[in-house]
Amino acid sequence: MRNYLVLTLITCCLLSNCTPKESITNVLISKEDAIEFKIDSILSKMTLEEKIGQTAQRGKSSRVKELPVELKEAVKKGEIGSFLNIMNKDDAKELQRIAMEESPNKIPLIFARDVIHGFKTIFPIPLGQAASFDPNLVQKGARISAIEASTYGIRWTFAPMLDISRDPRWGRIAESAGEDQYLTSIMGEAYIKGFQGDDLSSSTSIAACAKHFVGYGAAEGGRDYNTANINEFSLHNTYLKPFKKAVETNVATLMTGFNDLNGVPVSGNKYLLTEVLRNQWGFDGFVVSDWNSIIEMVPHGFAEDEAAAAGKAANAMLDMEMTSTSYQDNMKNLIEERKFSENQLDEMVRNILRIKFKLGLFDKPYFEPESDVLYAKEHLEAAKEAAKKSMVLLKNKNQILPLSTKKSLAIIGPLADAPHDQLGTWTFDGEKARTITPLTSFKEDGEHPILYSKGLSYSRDKSNKRFNDAIKIAKNSDIIVFFGGEEAILSGEAHSRANLNLPGKQESLISELHKTGKPIVLVLMAGRPITLGNIIDKVDAVLFAWHPGTMGGPAILDILTGKASPSGRLPITWPKEVGQIPIYYNHKNTGRPTIPEEFVQIDSIPIGAWQSSLGNTSHYLDLGYLPQYPFGYGLTYSSFEYCDVKILSNEINENGPIIVSAKITNTGNVIAEEVVQLYFRDMVGSITRPVKELLRFKKIELEPGASKIVDFVFSKDDISFYGLDKKWVVEPGKFKLWVGKHALDQTHELEFVIE
Ligand code: NOJ
Repeated sequence: MRNYLVLTLITCCLLSNCTPKESITNVLISKEDAIEFKIDSILSKMTLEEKIGQTAQRGKSSRVKELPVELKEAVKKGEIGSFLNIMNKDDAKELQRIAMEESPNKIPLIFARDVIHGFKTIFPIPLGQAASFDPNLVQKGARISAIEASTYGIRWTFAPMLDISRDPRWGRIAESAGEDQYLTSIMGEAYIKGFQGDDLSSSTSIAACAKHFVGYGAAEGGRDYNTANINEFSLHNTYLKPFKKAVETNVATLMTGFNDLNGVPVSGNKYLLTEVLRNQWGFDGFVVSDWNSIIEMVPHGFAEDEAAAAGKAANAMLDMEMTSTSYQDNMKNLIEERKFSENQLDEMVRNILRIKFKLGLFDKPYFEPESDVLYAKEHLEAAKEAAKKSMVLLKNKNQILPLSTKKSLAIIGPLADAPHDQLGTWTFDGEKARTITPLTSFKEDGEHPILYSKGLSYSRDKSNKRFNDAIKIAKNSDIIVFFGGEEAILSGEAHSRANLNLPGKQESLISELHKTGKPIVLVLMAGRPITLGNIIDKVDAVLFAWHPGTMGGPAILDILTGKASPSGRLPITWPKEVGQIPIYYNHKNTGRPTIPEEFVQIDSIPIGAWQSSLGNTSHYLDLGYLPQYPFGYGLTYSSFEYCDVKILSNEINENGPIIVSAKITNTGNVIAEEVVQLYFRDMVGSITRPVKELLRFKKIELEPGASKIVDFVFSKDDISFYGLDKKWVVEPGKFKLWVGKHALDQTHELEFVIE
């Protein structure tokens, strides 16, 4: 719905037979048009230098105490459009004051920060939040983050990250929503709605930034910043989808990646930035580069120097440059040399000013700090809820969990009391002093006799000098609860790993503890799946808590003690070994798909066997073809039965919806949540289609014995694909559907035909 404003036009009447006079006309125009009108008016007064200035984003090193004079001078001249990482409120105010009072056209600055999964109150890492399969919860977390961050004058966050991530070696998988484009799109939408609120101009709304456009998560070998080769079909059918959804959700900004995509670095990719983003999707916000990603096109070998890089990025329509200064240094020359035009620059500035207007920064450039909202009670409660709902129970032998109250516990491990590490990656503003660890929570709870020994002082610790203490307390307790995983610093940007097992001596310590004969509950805190092959049979239960954030301790306590049932599901396929990567559920079939009977195990091959056709299917001799845990997987403390799974109405041939329904019953003894998942497969296509794709999901809570009918509604659009003639199509033929508990659950299969 468009909002209309009364615009008062003051025109000068210059009729020949009257004296010049002012005439006042009231015109009803939309809010959007009013903004364009104001932008035109400002643009007409701006010098070339000021226009270039709007495209510049600068930062200040946190090591520099005073605001550098050069920065103030630059703002005064209108040569800076935005700042990132200005965390001193007085500095931010002073810079804004200079912009509003002393700069030529009084254009407000926009202050940005990586508010990724919380500002002060830290929520679980985004991969963990995706595991909640609960967009409302994610939206609430983002809203809280915006409320807190805006008290520092931050009106723009570099989130959500929408990179499809199918390689857990890549450290930034922690910041993603995992391997699936539908789940990533839904989570992206939730973050954007939460950050931006109902009205971008509200002082607690912050502009979101869908990043990294596009393909950054497909870095070769999971090595950060690396080349991505994605074919045209996968690009549209998988990698671009969450960004399209973000644009449809009115995301204010996008960020390009560092990566080269199919030979063209995305920061200079005209096809993506102009053709797809602007022409096809109609995006009217602005695009920012990643940190130095424009000038990094020089080492990429895509531009011979920074001037050429600036030319390529600007011609592609990359509006704002983060930190590097190639626009500032070269734009004027580029225009003089006719390698770029001032009209194009005007478009870029227009995009930036539009968001500044929408944020209400021209009317309300300053912020009134309300610091009592930081760590507000309801923020902490929401963070606890998010942590609880994101945890995934992967194993629970003999129902060792929930822990019975009578049992004494040996709390062991490097992450039992690691307040900084449980916050995870990208938590510049989270504070360990405000973080509650599992050890603290168990102590405060007092329901279980506990003994504590760290065993290893941090996750990479390779010393066994504390092993004996740990073994001693284990022997004196009923159950061992081992808190292992990765320190926060082991995932995130530039923190890729080639081995994904528990770092340091954690596996050795678990093996030693196993020898005591006491049951072991392993609580994992990590930014990615951890390969568990060496220890999975030595532990009785595995709870994956991700890096759970500020309230991780109380949330883990609630889950382990059964005050809440685990309800998270994996947003990513969990590999057995690194050698299986990439392994994701929505892969293509081969001409020789693996079927269980045909899997050849390495040790079953007779010595001296002939090269034979036996078992020539797509698998590994030593690992087979199955993951440790599939996408969508997770246990609860209850059990659920699916029945009456059927297609309720099928109007898809008449362009109407298909409605699929299933009756879900909690057949266990406790209240619990189930994530009911609907997958589909287009059986034959003019290009091959994945073996399964997530189409819809619903998280429902049921009391013991209770049932609920779950309906899923979808349309032809939802099963279309980008095909050979570069159009979205739905081809006639057979489609299969599955309603199930995870991606490999084939129990309830349905079929329909498109004529
Ligand atoms: C580099 C990262 O790739 C990007 O995601 C982040 O937003 C910027 N640095 C700013 O910190």
